[in-house]
Amino acid sequence: MRLRIFKTGAVGGLLALCALWAGGVLSGTILGTKHDFTGLNQRAGVVAMPTVAFSDLGESCVYCHIPPDKGDVDSSELGGIPGWNRFKGATNAYDLYDSRTLDNKVRTPSPISLLCLSCHDGTMAVDMTVFKPNGWRSSEDAALHLRINGADDLMNCAKCHNGRVAHNIAIKHLDTDLTNDHPISMTYAGLNNKDPDFRLPDGPYGFDNGVKIYDNKVECASCHNVHDPDITLLLRVSADRLCETCHIK
Ligand code: HEC
Ligand code: HEC
Ligand code: HEC
Ligand code: HEC
Ligand code: HEC
Repeated sequence: MRLRIFKTGAVGGLLALCALWAGGVLSGTILGTKHDFTGLNQRAGVVAMPTVAFSDLGESCVYCHIPPDKGDVDSSELGGIPGWNRFKGATNAYDLYDSRTLDNKVRTPSPISLLCLSCHDGTMAVDMTVFKPNGWRSSEDAALHLRINGADDLMNCAKCHNGRVAHNIAIKHLDTDLTNDHPISMTYAGLNNKDPDFRLPDGPYGFDNGVKIYDNKVECASCHNVHDPDITLLLRVSADRLCETCHIK
């Protein structure tokens, strides 16, 4: 998020995630959302993206998740983000939010936030996965491997997504400078009623309204659920009530 005033109306319920890899039940609500990179051309009514902009790997899930047929592989042995089918962003360091009042200073984002940044920092192609699904033919590889980046050159989705040829993608490009974004990967200040400005979570995984805490930390996925498009911008709670879930004032 950008630290600025926002408004959003939609209120949505929490969807239980019942996506199953096996049995052909692909009920993940990723399908048809902006994170579904299969069949984008057909949905958007263009013939430009997969085959040119990025490779259509035939399965939506593998752009983030390690394909199940790989078993218990450790993607980090190949330079991947532990537990995810993606490489760390092509940057030496992220500039994370910092301020005089911040309790916990953080140097490196946790894996689950590195996952998001691997596309949204704009340094790496959207189809840069550690593993491709079995049976995917490299002859289907895209001509270009574009990045979510607002810069207008042949490396980036903004080649078309500039607001003229196609919708502008610059706002989805967080960059490696996260100093104007909400802090991430810091220990949640409200644990054990430690900080009077923060609420005590309802349980070890966060709050009953769906806002999550990961290993006691705030991550991108604390506020966003890429599996649930019910609330605008994939938020876990509508933006007008999101902040007060954690912040008391
Ligand atoms: C504390 C909650 C919170 C955290 C943590 C958070 N976001 Fe957000 N995010 C929001 C809110 C609220 C909005 C919508 C309002 C805005 O843009 O400020 C948003 C908007 C976005 C947008 C869409 C911008 C647009 O207007 O279309 C993207 C992309 C995004 N966030 C990605 C991320 C990523 C990646 C991370 C981790 C690096 C992250 N967010 C961390 C709350 C959060
Ligand atoms: C854009 C990245 C992304 C894509 C694409 C994606 N997922 Fe996920 N998935 C996540 C994240 C992040 C989580 C963790 C969410 C959480 O903690 O609530 C997750 C969690 C899950 C879980 C729960 C795992 C657990 O430990 O509880 C399942 C099952 C799952 N995804 C299946 C799928 C399937 C099936 C697809 C394809 C239809 C898919 N995902 C596509 C990012 C993604
Ligand atoms: C494989 C690449 C990839 C990964 C990984 C990824 N995203 Fe995205 N995300 C995208 C693309 C592409 C878009 C759509 C950009 C556009 O068309 O404007 C998008 C859009 C979004 C949006 C805006 C949705 C909307 O309705 O406008 C949010 C919020 C977001 N992503 C958050 C996340 C979070 C949080 C994670 C990590 C859990 C994540 N993304 C991981 C590629 C990715
Ligand atoms: C050659 C031009 C071109 C390139 C390159 C391109 N796109 Fe698109 N894209 C389009 C057009 C045209 C549309 C349909 C109009 C629109 O949504 O603005 C579209 C639509 C989309 C949509 C919306 C699909 C939907 O279901 O509404 C997403 C998401 C998207 N593009 C993501 C990307 C990403 C991510 C990249 C870079 C990896 C990319 N595009 C590169 C032309 C392009
Ligand atoms: C999941 C819990 C959570 C949610 C939801 C959340 N925050 Fe935070 N926020 C935190 C934590 C934890 C800190 C860091 C506090 C510390 O360590 O001092 C923080 C820090 C901040 C800071 C920096 C304060 C400083 O001391 O520099 C701002 C500004 C902020 N949040 C705004 C927001 C806004 C606006 C929203 C709603 C869009 C929001 N937060 C939602 C947990 C959350």
